[in-house]
Amino acid sequence: MDRVSGKIALVTGAGNGIGKATALALSREGARVILADCQLGFASEVAAEIERAGGKALAVQVDVSDEAAVDAAVRSGLARFGQIDVLVNSAGGGSTKDGPVTELDLDEFWRTIRVDLFGTLLTCRRVIPEMVTSGGGSIINISSLRAVIGTHGADAYTASKGGVLTMSRAMSMQWARHNVRVNVLAPGVVLTERVAAFIKPEDPIYQKSLLGPSEPQDVAFLALFLASDEARKITGTVMRVDGGASIY
Ligand SMILES: NC(=O)c1ccc[n+]([C@@H]2O[C@H](COP(=O)([O-])OP(=O)(O)OC[C@H]3O[C@@H](n4cnc5c(N)ncnc54)[C@H](O)[C@@H]3O)[C@@H](O)[C@H]2O)c1
Repeated sequence: MDRVSGKIALVTGAGNGIGKATALALSREGARVILADCQLGFASEVAAEIERAGGKALAVQVDVSDEAAVDAAVRSGLARFGQIDVLVNSAGGGSTKDGPVTELDLDEFWRTIRVDLFGTLLTCRRVIPEMVTSGGGSIINISSLRAVIGTHGADAYTASKGGVLTMSRAMSMQWARHNVRVNVLAPGVVLTERVAAFIKPEDPIYQKSLLGPSEPQDVAFLALFLASDEARKITGTVMRVDGGASIY
């Protein structure tokens, strides 16, 4: 119950899916959690769930692609809890407007880049100096299996998650001397409500999963590990949570 006790975690996209499961897992293991989401209602519901269970949480509204909003969210978190030890970037996700480069909606390309890649950059840019000042921290960026193996049909999303992966690796080298660890999770199919609504069992990425699709908590368990001091010597890694899909 205390794998991350004493730590303060900021989780983006904490209102739903993987972000929500991660925020709940961190809280169960003793962290105080700042739940950042563009849908404040969902983040507030998760915060209430945490408080009912005896934890401490703060819900903040943020569009991660808006620098001023990210700054305001971080300031609110710092005002309440004093520092940020763990940053989990889960806000984002693909959409059905994506596709092959020859067909995808160009506005969707920039939306995905803005939220998934630029949003991750903005939160890291704002939080890293705070972590350096307080002696270190752990950043966990949610990329995707699509950034690791060849897939088709979601080229904007694949590009943005590839950027998240390589940018994270660069950050891990840059900040290791300040004890800031940066790791990436690359999930395959995770049956969050959003994905369950459109993924089809005949989709090749679904088919490749030898162990079947994951649940949000399957990703949350790894995020919890990376957030904890159990992973104090782990940085720059890409951990796949894909039911074995990348064996192919
Ligand atoms: N579910 C999967 O199969 C899967 C697989 C690989 C990677 N991922 C990645 O995991 C992350 C979470 O996915 P999920 O399935 O849990 O999604 P989800 O839709 O269940 O949750 C995403 C949350 O992010 C919030 N959000 C969206 N845009 C935002 C913005 N601009 N600013 C702040 N909050 C924003 C949403 O309100 C939502 O609460 C995403 O980055 C996604 O790309 C998901």
